Amino acid sequence: MKVIIVKNAAEGGKKAFEIFKKKLDEGATVFGLATGGTPETTYQELCDSDLDFSNCISINLDEYVGLPADNPQSYHYYMKKHLFEKKPFAHSYLPDGQNDDAKVECERYSRIIAENPVDLQLLGIGRNGHIGFNEPGSAFDGRTQKIRLTESTIAANARYFENENDVPKYAYSMGIGEIMQAKTVLLEAYGKDKADAIKKMVEGEPTEEVPASVLQTHDDAIVIVDEDAASLL
Ligand code: GLP
Repeated sequence: MKVIIVKNAAEGGKKAFEIFKKKLDEGATVFGLATGGTPETTYQELCDSDLDFSNCISINLDEYVGLPADNPQSYHYYMKKHLFEKKPFAHSYLPDGQNDDAKVECERYSRIIAENPVDLQLLGIGRNGHIGFNEPGSAFDGRTQKIRLTESTIAANARYFENENDVPKYAYSMGIGEIMQAKTVLLEAYGKDKADAIKKMVEGEPTEEVPASVLQTHDDAIVIVDEDAASLL
C-alpha cells in the first residue's frame, strides 16, 4: 500500500488527477467511481482538464435504495453534477436505487462489474472504515449486495439531507471482493475525523471489522491523505 501525504484536499485532488491521467494514457478504459465530499476536488480537476472519457466506461460504487436519479441526494445526481455533465463517458453504470427487487438488482450489477474489469477504482472511506457502503463485518470476498447502513454512517451522511430521518436506511453497494478486482485502487481521505480509520486501515491487522484494511492485501493500492487524516500514523 503506497501512502502519499499531501497538505490538503486541493493538493490531493491534483495528485489523484495525475493518477487518472497516467492510467488514461496507459490505455485504461474502465473507471470505478465514488461519491461523497472527498472526491470533489478530484472531479473538479478532471472537469477543468482536457482529459476525454467519451470512449470509457464508469461504474459507481453504490446508490441509496429508494432514491430516484433526479433526487439531489442520490448518487446519480451527484455524479451528473460533479463529473458527467462536463465529462461524459460512453456509458456510466450506477446501481438502480429504485429497483426494489434486491436480488435482481445485485445480480445485474455484479454482472456489469464482471463484464467490465475496472482499471482504476476511486474510493473514499467512512469514519468506521467502510468502503463503498460495505460496513464493518462485510465479507472481504463479498459481491454487490443490499446493505443496511449503520447509525454512524447515517449520522455522517445526514449533512446532505434536511434531517437525519430522511437518510435512506439501505443502499446497494459493490462488494469488497469486486472492489479488490480493480487493477489499481486509489483511496482518498481528508480531515481529522478520518484519522482513526486511516490508522486502522494502514497499520492494523486486516480485518472485516475495518473493511478498508483489506487494501493492505491489494497489489496496487494507493492512498492519498492530508496531514490531518494522516495525523495518527
Ligand atoms: C459514503 C459513501 C462512501 C464514502 C463515504 C465518505 O458513505 N458511500 O463511498 O467514501 O460516505 O464520505 P465523505 O467523502 O463525504 O466523507
